[in-house]
Amino acid sequence: MEIKLGKLHLQNPVMVASGTFGYGEEYHRLFDVNRLGAIVTKSISLKPRPGNPAPRIYETASGMINSIGLQNVGLEAFLKKKMPFLRKLKGPKVIVNLAGESVAEYVTLARRLEECERVDGLELNISCPNCERGGIQFGVDPKLTADLVGRVRRVTRRTLIAKLSPNVTDITVIARAAAEAGADALSLINTLLAIAVDAKRWLPRIATVTGGLSGPAIKPVALRMVWQVHRVLPKIPLIGIGGIMTAEDAVEFMLCGATAVEVGTANYVNPKAPLEIIEGLKAILSTRGLTSPRSLVGKLKTPQKLKGVPQMVSG
Ligand SMILES: Cc1cc2nc3c(=O)[nH]c(=O)nc-3n(C[C@H](O)[C@H](O)[C@H](O)COP(=O)(O)O)c2cc1C
Repeated sequence: MEIKLGKLHLQNPVMVASGTFGYGEEYHRLFDVNRLGAIVTKSISLKPRPGNPAPRIYETASGMINSIGLQNVGLEAFLKKKMPFLRKLKGPKVIVNLAGESVAEYVTLARRLEECERVDGLELNISCPNCERGGIQFGVDPKLTADLVGRVRRVTRRTLIAKLSPNVTDITVIARAAAEAGADALSLINTLLAIAVDAKRWLPRIATVTGGLSGPAIKPVALRMVWQVHRVLPKIPLIGIGGIMTAEDAVEFMLCGATAVEVGTANYVNPKAPLEIIEGLKAILSTRGLTSPRSLVGKLKTPQKLKGVPQMVSG
């Protein structure tokens, strides 16, 4: 079940997605998190953040909308209170997800974490749709993406992952910018900008009006984006995210070009979903006589004559 993400060896390709798994410790009460491929922490900012006002979660058909607003304990408390648990883990790699309001903030965060043993990788959240400053503003502009990834690259030797936003016209442009600026891997996707409405009261369901849609509802969009990026950048490892609930969902992402996957919203429905996905993936590989999850990557059977990257085809 081992896979490689850049220079990082993961014991299996199943990771847990930022913001849906706390800092690992919370879920360790429910199962042995040592079995995961990697834990991606909640986004960390330099200063603690209280997050957005409630209501900030709403369940939709096949998914949920959230506008948490990157509530987190801040870097210092993370290092003092959350890292001791993560440091003790034997199995999973520890990926710290970073969120900044400026390039300088991302650089400072990366520098500080460079001194911290047992941080195996950094995932740059350049795709949060729920903040006024920072986050998505970087991830929708190829120049800003390249500048940010390049500046963080200069201060870290850790595996550097850029987490992309689906709220763009052409994901391949942003993916290429991040890869050329030095990202070792790309994770995609973050949530899709969305609104839920209370038709009786004529009110939005979320206090900030808009939020990010996640869960099975976004899986087809995420699969399409992983597939598009893999076609133009076949060498860079991709981490597929979006509505993964079962091992079969993970296989779909791998066939489209993902080397690994992150499980997000599923953790709220079934905290043991990542474990079940690991076991299910093993079973699928063994049924097919495959010895490694790598055998699935990019193996979607598409027509030979398909050239370029189809954009909007419908109707
Ligand atoms: C409640 C909630 C909080 C999230 N917080 C973060 C976050 O802090 N940083 C981040 O990069 N992504 C965050 N995400 C996005 C997820 O990591 C993931 O990219 C997205 O939900 C799509 O995957 P899913 O459909 O499996 O949930 C959050 C998602 C949810 C549902």
